[in-house]
Amino acid sequence: MMKKGVCPDRKPATATLSREERFMVHSSISQRTSQRQQPAAPLIVLRGVTKTYRQGSEEVKALQNVDLDIADGEFLAVTGKSGCGKSTLLHVIGGLESVAAGHILFQGQDLSRFREEQLTRYRRDQVGIVFQSFNLMPLLTLGENVALPQILRGTPSQEALRLAETWLDRVNLGHRRDHKPHQVSGGEMQRAAVARALINQPALLLADEPTGNLDSTHAHQVLQLFAELQRQERLTVIMVTHALEAAQYADRIVSMQDGRLLP
Ligand SMILES: Nc1ncnc2c1ncn2[C@@H]1O[C@H](COP(=O)(O)OP(=O)(O)O)[C@@H](O)[C@H]1O
Ligand SMILES: [Mg+2]
Repeated sequence: MMKKGVCPDRKPATATLSREERFMVHSSISQRTSQRQQPAAPLIVLRGVTKTYRQGSEEVKALQNVDLDIADGEFLAVTGKSGCGKSTLLHVIGGLESVAAGHILFQGQDLSRFREEQLTRYRRDQVGIVFQSFNLMPLLTLGENVALPQILRGTPSQEALRLAETWLDRVNLGHRRDHKPHQVSGGEMQRAAVARALINQPALLLADEPTGNLDSTHAHQVLQLFAELQRQERLTVIMVTHALEAAQYADRIVSMQDGRLLP
């Protein structure tokens, strides 16, 4: 099993800057952190996050007063039994659902204060998500599936498809570009889903039970890929899983019970 420390000179997501500006920001940050040996600043901060669902007359407290800091460049695993609030936690961090109380900060900015178009941009540009059931489009090839987030962002399709090819190579699926999802294994589908989640170069990869439908060999490949991408692509990974073996690949494991984070 792999265990890694958080990369101290992990770069922040500065997707709106030019390449040169990004380089300047990053090199000054890595100088600062390497001089002082500080841990990376948090990318995500949750304070008092509470989320309730109403089911008929009953109120379900899916998240109760959750406080959590996730460092830039960290690989965090969140574990706990089914129904404890793991998926809800990912959804609120990914800006897919709003919270009833509390704050979620991304790079110091409060998601609840984002206007609709800022939230759309946050979801599209800063967050990549992979699911247990892969959620690939069945009629599209793997190449087309991976290209889709770029196309939705307005990139011309030829360019998007070329970029998708480099991402498929990155996850060792170059040879499966023209296959449809049903023509490849579950592990290959999940690796394609990871490439699709990352093609827009988000700061954050959210994974909801990503190995739930995989055998142990394919699960290992996907989890190793997360750890590798985290190190090489300046990525912060939050993976929720009820499987303790999967959680071992992360830098840090936190547990939830009944909507609360256990101390
Ligand atoms: N859309 C929803 N409507 C009503 N209740 C929900 C909804 N989503 C989740 N819940 C409830 O919130 C709790 C936490 O769910 P969830 O975050 O999916 O847990 P986990 O991912 O850990 O299995 C559960 O009791 C679940 O039934
Ligand atoms: Mg879940």
